Amino acid sequence: MKTYENYSLLHHNTFGIDVRCKRFVEYESETELQEVLARLRECPEEPFLHIGGGSNLLFVNDFQGTILHSGLKGKEKIGDDGCNILLRVGAAESWDKLVETCIVNGYFGMENLSLIPGEVGASAVQNIGAYGVEAEQFIDRVETVEIATGKPRIFSHDECRYAYRNSIFKQELRGQYVVTHVVFRLSHVFSPDLTYAAIAREMERRGWTELSPRQLRDLVIDIRNSKLPDPEVQGSAGSFFMNPIVSEEKFEALRMSYPDMPHYKMDSGVKIPAGWLIEQCGWKGRSMGRAGIHEKQALVLVNLGGATGSDVVALSEAIQQDVKAKFGITITPEVNFIA
Ligand code: EPU
Repeated sequence: MKTYENYSLLHHNTFGIDVRCKRFVEYESETELQEVLARLRECPEEPFLHIGGGSNLLFVNDFQGTILHSGLKGKEKIGDDGCNILLRVGAAESWDKLVETCIVNGYFGMENLSLIPGEVGASAVQNIGAYGVEAEQFIDRVETVEIATGKPRIFSHDECRYAYRNSIFKQELRGQYVVTHVVFRLSHVFSPDLTYAAIAREMERRGWTELSPRQLRDLVIDIRNSKLPDPEVQGSAGSFFMNPIVSEEKFEALRMSYPDMPHYKMDSGVKIPAGWLIEQCGWKGRSMGRAGIHEKQALVLVNLGGATGSDVVALSEAIQQDVKAKFGITITPEVNFIA
């Protein structure tokens, strides 16, 4: 177990916010996790937070407590029935390296999820998604440890109650379990999902009617690189807001004024891209203090250099107010604010 006091979190949040925590602990086994949880239970007044790759966090202040980080690595094939492979992966593995490993080994399904920043543990909490595909489609089960007791518990896919960027770990059981491993079910057969407009357009532009898993991964990487900032170069947390889902009635009313509004019909209503709403409010490419809106994708807030968490919060609130005033829609951050 590694423990650091008064530790800088600059390299643990992709926004690149320079804050510190009182203590940073990285555990390397489930036993070490149980030890550190037991210690934290002895000081209930000490706040603590478990982070992953820090790609979905906004630190608003220094954190006056303990930050926990998983060091649980490993990718182990635990089943193969000739059609599907079960792969058990440690929470601390890089998401994108997992996608690469799967392609190299012929385990198919996750190509569209290439280049998403972050770690495997968070993928199971957040249900990361891109280009028409979501992580939950490949999650067979999630292995966890309960914070209150230190006891292991396995959640089946259904018990995780996955929805758009959501799971039981963000709702009823928020802050109650630490994900230690995720078991993925991948396929020996490559049956790509090429329906998302950006992928279909790019294939047409290249004159391709079919492609290999490697080509699909490279194409997704190219699309992402052309639209989204590289967190190594410019701080950001990817999409800052979730795409709102409005009722059919609300959508029809808005469509009268905005006939070209992009939208996706869902079981629960109509999803409207928040990036479009923000662009319509004139925010794309603008800035406020040291925080700005990316010039190629209005859903992404960026650190223009030396931004504080408060700079980003102020900008996000100004955007929310404008979207509410113009469209009557409340947009909710996807990013978790750590006050
Ligand atoms: N749009 C605009 N202006 C913008 C941005 C988008 O008009 O500045 C419009 C586009 O024209 C398009 C629509 O909005 O019609 C959708 O845009 P895009 O395909 O870029 O996807 P998105 O809905 O903005 C979501 C995810 C992304 C993911 C992409 C691709 C959320 C919150 N975000 O964005 O996820 O990469 O789809 O699948 O669902 C992330 O979570 O960090 C992330 C980058």
